[in-house]
Amino acid sequence: MQVASIIPSSRALIGRVASKFDFSEPRVIVEFGPGEGCHTREIHRRMHPDSKLILFELDPELTRHLDEQFKDDPRVTVLNADCQRLPEELAALGHTSCDYVVSGIPFSVLEVGKKRTLLQKIHDSLSADPAAAFIIYQVTNELRGHAKVFPRAQSEYCLQNIPPMFITVFRKALAQVNGHATRAADPALQPR
Ligand SMILES: C[S@@+](CC[C@H](N)C(=O)[O-])C[C@H]1O[C@@H](n2cnc3c(N)ncnc32)[C@H](O)[C@@H]1O
Repeated sequence: MQVASIIPSSRALIGRVASKFDFSEPRVIVEFGPGEGCHTREIHRRMHPDSKLILFELDPELTRHLDEQFKDDPRVTVLNADCQRLPEELAALGHTSCDYVVSGIPFSVLEVGKKRTLLQKIHDSLSADPAAAFIIYQVTNELRGHAKVFPRAQSEYCLQNIPPMFITVFRKALAQVNGHATRAADPALQPR
């Protein structure tokens, strides 16, 4: 129930998820459930050199494996912690917010109350930067129905993974047109 997968994400899924980030600027990036680190390595490879990467992994053995992989990079923080601790851990690391949360945890098995609490924490922790986003890859797209706190969401389906996955990008910022916030301004993101 905690890992909910027998094999890591495919190269295709990893590439599609990484393409949702704007890596052109320094970012505070949070990953939930990195597992053995397949998405982490790609994000780490692509991220701006002044970025920070914070990993929440529940499994102690996988946490040790991640620690070993990133021990030489002070920009990476590996936490053996429940991702529900996002606000507390960001504050402890001296961050008031983060720019991205990417999640590989089996969100769909979370009890509804926990799911909504976590969604609210993610929303409240994201910065006001227009690029800031919560990115999730999942077998089902049921989370869209719960994530009403985010005004914008866009989903796509990645068939090149076992099993195929929905990738959904949630944003809290409304797009800007001539300095005015609008939901319809960004054609790449459908208004909800
Ligand atoms: C399906 S695996 C994903 C692994 C990897 N991201 C991938 O794409 O192959 C889910 C991971 O989430 C971790 N996990 C589950 N619930 C978690 C939680 N509440 N907080 C942090 N990690 C969690 C599990 O231990 C597991 O490593």
